[in-house]
Amino acid sequence: MNYRIPRGTQDILPEQSRKWQFIEQKIHDLCNRYNYKEIRTPVFEQTELFARGVGDTTDIVQKEMYTFDDRGGRSLTLRPEGTASTVRSFVENKMHGWADQPVKLYYVGPMFRYERPQSGRMRQFVQFGVEAMGSADPAVDAEVIGLSMDFYRELGLSNLKLVVNSLGDKESRNNHRNALIEHFEPRISEFCADCQQRLEKNPLRILDCKQDNDHELMATAPSILDYLNEDSTDYFKLVQQYLADMDIRFEVDPTLVRGLDYYNNTAFEIMIDGEGFGAITTLCGGGRYNGLVEDIGGPTTPGIGFALSIERLLMALEVQEISLPIEEGLDAYLVTMGEQAKAVSPKLLHGLRSKGLAVDGDYIGKKMKAQMKAADRQKAEFVLLLGDDELAEDNIMVKEMATGEQKQVPLKEIAEWIISQR
Ligand code: HAM
Repeated sequence: MNYRIPRGTQDILPEQSRKWQFIEQKIHDLCNRYNYKEIRTPVFEQTELFARGVGDTTDIVQKEMYTFDDRGGRSLTLRPEGTASTVRSFVENKMHGWADQPVKLYYVGPMFRYERPQSGRMRQFVQFGVEAMGSADPAVDAEVIGLSMDFYRELGLSNLKLVVNSLGDKESRNNHRNALIEHFEPRISEFCADCQQRLEKNPLRILDCKQDNDHELMATAPSILDYLNEDSTDYFKLVQQYLADMDIRFEVDPTLVRGLDYYNNTAFEIMIDGEGFGAITTLCGGGRYNGLVEDIGGPTTPGIGFALSIERLLMALEVQEISLPIEEGLDAYLVTMGEQAKAVSPKLLHGLRSKGLAVDGDYIGKKMKAQMKAADRQKAEFVLLLGDDELAEDNIMVKEMATGEQKQVPLKEIAEWIISQR
């Protein structure tokens, strides 16, 4: 039996994982600057949370969830996204009572969706997301959008397109909903079975249908922007004003509806332009979800956030040929010659590591030349040459790889010597 990795998942091998670590560090630094605090929630939750939170008319809930019964007969689901879990935790931990509002959180972790795998669309992928709950100030919308744009900019990406829309508040959405039903109802039989169901449950979803997106009624569908009431219009204007003040360029796209049910007012996506990216061009998506905390059993609390996947970010970096400034290599590699030198190497390596140095040595009985090659491959700054003769005199030979310069150093001073060269 040959075991294979499950479809739509990947192994991240050491070469790649250094990039992941760099990106994760960038996330922590950036969120720290914006004063967002990390939250870690379980990878599975009660199925009902997502049905309720993400919305049972969405593709995610209808077709893409990894749902199973545990041995106690409870229905659990691997999280397909992070917002519902974060809101569940907000409610359960009574974060609405915390002194500092809004509560600003971020997360990085694996999400699971049973999708048709293709490049940039995985069944397990890692999202970085932020959620700010407890403020209905459009300045928070601008902050959240600014954070996501800063993230990509600081990693060096260009040709990004920020698209924003407003889905309106409850009243505006209801008016728009009625207009959509009126628009599609007479010819709904020409649409797919999913859309026929969506008409009653959530006609906005029809606009997001991948199957029917060429139908002529799509292009002429009533635009949400014509149905925004005064509050929603003013809100959207302010978000746009703040973005302009922050020198963040954007386009308004009234057809942007997003694939999850919880949004109202601001919705946004960041796309990447350009060759080589294939069909999937959305890097990041988010928006406001003012009713969600209440839906999940908490007090009325406004919220906004976004999520993006590291997988799509890495694709974008590759397409734009951006290499991350990753530091690699060892401080030193220990090359031993002779039985006695080999015998003291565990103690020597351990001592160097406990002083904070990154060092390694040979464990498979390589000849000296092969050990030197290993030192080179491992990008060691120094090679420490220890033969039985040096050992007898309590000395060690140090060779700087960049210059080839050699020097003898007393064995007990070697850690300090390497540190002094940094
Ligand atoms: P979403 O649009 O479903 O929103 O996903 C956000 C991002 O996750 C996408 O733009 C994409 O980068 C990434 N993504 C989604 N599915 C896949 C996949 N199968 N493979 C690789 N990457 C993927 C949400 O998940 C919302 N929770 C965002 C949010 C947070 N809204 C408010 N707060």
